[in-house]
Order: sequence, then C-alpha cells, then structure tokens
Amino acid sequence: MNIYHTVSGLRSDIRARRLNGESIGFVPTMGNLHEGHLQLVRQAKAQCDVVVVSIFVNPLQFGLNEDWEKYPRTFQDDAKKLETEGCDFLFHPDENEIYPNGMADQTRVVVPTMTDILCGASRPGHFEGVTTVVSKLLHIVQPDTAIFGIKDYQQLAVIRRMVEDLCIPVDIIGAPIARDFDGLALSSRNGYLGEDERPRVKVLYEVLCWCRDQIENGERDFTTLEIQADKTLENSGFRTDYVSIRNSKTLEPAAHDDNQLTILGAMFTKGARLIDNISLTLGEVNALTQQAEAKK
Ligand code: PAJ
Repeated sequence: MNIYHTVSGLRSDIRARRLNGESIGFVPTMGNLHEGHLQLVRQAKAQCDVVVVSIFVNPLQFGLNEDWEKYPRTFQDDAKKLETEGCDFLFHPDENEIYPNGMADQTRVVVPTMTDILCGASRPGHFEGVTTVVSKLLHIVQPDTAIFGIKDYQQLAVIRRMVEDLCIPVDIIGAPIARDFDGLALSSRNGYLGEDERPRVKVLYEVLCWCRDQIENGERDFTTLEIQADKTLENSGFRTDYVSIRNSKTLEPAAHDDNQLTILGAMFTKGARLIDNISLTLGEVNALTQQAEAKK
C-alpha cells in the first residue's frame, strides 16, 4: 500500500493505473477506522481494480463547539488495517494540502434545502463542509465508484444530489450499516461514550426498530410515533435531537401513501451525539397503489 500526503503524488500514480485500463474505487473517511469503514473498503475492492482510501479530519465540517480537536486520530493503526484489507493507495493530506488558500476563502459547494433539516438543523454549516471536501476529493481522485455508508443517511442523500446536480462522473454506492453486538451503529464517536451509558445507548436503534414494526403493522400516524419514540429516548436518560419518519428519496416528512420510508434518529449522550436510521419498503401499499394505478 502506498501512502500519499500530496495531491500531485496521488494523482500521478492514479493516472498511471487509469491509463492501464484499471477502474478506481474510492472510500473517503476521517480515520479511526472500524468495521463499518472496512466494509466499505471491501466493497470497493470487490468492485474496482484499484482502491483509494482517504483519511482527513475535515475542519470545515465541524462547528465551533464541536469535536474537531478531540476527534480520534489513529493513523498508524488505520494504515495497518487498510494494508490488511488490500487497500492500494492511502491519501493522508494535511489541512494546507486540502485548503492551500485557507478555509475562509475556500470555494464552497452548497446543496440547498435538504441540508437545512434533520442533522443540518442542529449542525449549521456541517453539510457545506462535507460537500465541499467530498467534491474536492472526488476531483483529486476522479474515481469510477465512490462508496459511502448508509449509516450517515442524510450525508449520502446530499452527496448523491451534489453529484447529480454538478454532473460529476462517478457512481455513488451506499453500503449497509455495520452494527455492534447490541445493534448500536458503529461510529468513531462511540469512543466518547461513558461506561455507564454504553449499555443504554442501544435504545436509539431499538426505537427506530419499534417505529418500523408499528408502520409495518399498519400504523400511519407518523407524528404520534415520532412523539412516542422521542419520549422513550428521554425516559432512557438521553436528549432527543430528532426522530423523524421521512420519504427515503426526498427526505421530506413521509406522506401516508409513500412506500419507501426512512426513520432517522439522533440523540445526545453526555459525551456524544449519535445518529442512526432504518429504511423500509411497504409492499402492501405498493401493491394497492399499483392496483389503483391499473384501474385508471
Ligand atoms: P467518517 O465518519 O469517517 O465515515 C466515513 C464513511 O464511513 C462514511 O461514508 C460513513 O457513512 C461510513 N460509515 C461510518 N460508520 C459506518 C457504519 N457503522 N456502517 C457503515 N458505514 C459507516 O463520513 C465521514 O467520515 C465524512 O463526513 C467524510 C464523508 C469522509 C467527509 O469528510
């Protein structure tokens, strides 16, 4: 595995492989790699000839009071894991390499509207930082395929939208959520959890599963489900940021006849803000809609 700290070094080696007719798969990360990240790398490996992984803790996507400084940086361990997975190129730039003109004067990429809701509402500017750095990374690597986790559902939706709107020639793939033994979605931020809260945080996944089961059993009063889920989180000692049932594609609040739904949740623990989501397809509604369509 080759490690690069500069854009020019990485680019010239990627160019050589591309000219050789090889396809390029790309997995952007902020490091502190866990099984969730490694699954993305395996998927890239299965689909592409050359796998590029980036590790860059992007300051532009962290708010002023957020955890940029304390975000876990474990480069040596990460590099070992990536080597074992068969990653070809590891890109580990510093801030000056990515923002040579300074962050304040950096050209920004903004996806409007869908970034103002859910996580965007409690983390203003976050998605602008994500889309700006991801568009830069996509221009640097110019991959055929880039893989992102469904764990960050809104991030994936926003990136898909950016790629579509800016005609960036890349296939975006969403990879399944890797979970711990009790259902907790793996996250670099789980390391912030205290021993007292770790056994209790599975409640986030549990309330999302509960909402899914209620909907699958025919419940369509989404607002009541959201309120009950919120209460369950609060009763377990956590502050709810949101639990929201949305149209999987648009991220608009779900309509009663939508059949592709995603239930998204975010809550605050003492040391972290955790997010998770579950998607479901309503087959029965689908069938009824098709029958109605057929009658027209
Ligand atoms: P990071 O949080 O390091 O995540 C890197 C990638 O791993 C993202 O696509 C994320 O969705 C995915 N991922 C994280 N936990 C996962 C899990 N439990 N299961 C499956 N996939 C998981 O997301 C970022 O970094 C940054 O915002 C980035 C896109 C790199 C831009 O800076």
